[in-house]
Amino acid sequence: KSVEKMETTADVSNGAGPVYEQKKETLRPEDLSEMLAAGTKEIHEKAENTQFVKDFLKGRIRKELFKLGAVALYYTYTALEEEIERNKDHPHFAALYFPTELHRHEALARDLEYFYGPEWKSHTSCSKATQNYVDRIHQVGQEDPVLLVAHAYTRYMGDLSGGQVLKKVAQRALKLPATGEGLEFYQFDAIHSAKEFKQLYRSRMNELELDMETKKRLVDEAVKAFLFNIEVFEELEEIGKTIQEDVLDAGMPVHGAMGGDISKCPYYAAKMATSGGTAYICQLAMAALRHPTGQVLFATWFAALAGLAAWYLM
Ligand code: HEM
Repeated sequence: KSVEKMETTADVSNGAGPVYEQKKETLRPEDLSEMLAAGTKEIHEKAENTQFVKDFLKGRIRKELFKLGAVALYYTYTALEEEIERNKDHPHFAALYFPTELHRHEALARDLEYFYGPEWKSHTSCSKATQNYVDRIHQVGQEDPVLLVAHAYTRYMGDLSGGQVLKKVAQRALKLPATGEGLEFYQFDAIHSAKEFKQLYRSRMNELELDMETKKRLVDEAVKAFLFNIEVFEELEEIGKTIQEDVLDAGMPVHGAMGGDISKCPYYAAKMATSGGTAYICQLAMAALRHPTGQVLFATWFAALAGLAAWYLM
């Protein structure tokens, strides 16, 4: 069935800045934007449900791992944007060329400089899972450029969809400055309305002259792009386990079986119902309980309460 959606078109895309014009357009199931959205629905859910992403959304993210995530993104976007530059005049990509609005390479370089210092390039390297993703992007850009559309769609549309939420979570969890250092990747300064820009991007995708077979190949490639992202998340998750062990070894976990897992804290359920303040209190309590002083205070408080109960029951 056809779906009525607001579509946005722009007469001037770059340079002078886009002139957005809203018009009602009927989207059909055979439109590329609809085929991509439908064809990646299932794999999107899988990506959302990887442990790394779930932990991230709960604010359970350690700085070292977040930094490695930024490194992975840096190599990914360097490859993606190199191939986009190579194909910016290609008839199957030119309409999606929005360097001012979308490109993340420079923002990520600034984030890495913030995290690793001016010598950041010598402190970072491309991981195995990221390298696989990067290799595929280069292969596509050089051998089958039309498939670049799928890679650009998977990353940029995703960044414009969940980016602001992820930025807030990271800012709070990692106590990064409110001024945005370290989080420039999430900040699209040249895009005033992510919603409108996504509509423009969709209509540009739909205007590409592509036959059905090519559109199907694009959906398959987008699913692949999601899989590459999932592999990067799984790799980060594995690295995270070794980092977590270090942290636990250094501290004194009192929640033996819980192993410091905040989601198992009895107060954690409230997090879902409140804005996150409860989770913060819970995190504070967990942090306090990891410290010997916190344990003594907790024991004193508990003994006093037990004494009071005993007195009451006598
Ligand atoms: C943190 C977990 C995630 C959440 C909560 C999330 C949430 C969302 C939401 C709510 C939308 C719909 C926005 C709209 O209708 O305009 C969306 C769209 C999208 N997301 Fe995600 N997402 C997550 C992870 C990812 C990942 C890991 C990727 C790929 C790397 C991704 C790629 C996309 C794409 C390509 C779209 C556009 C779909 C379309 O309209 O065609 N997302 N996401």
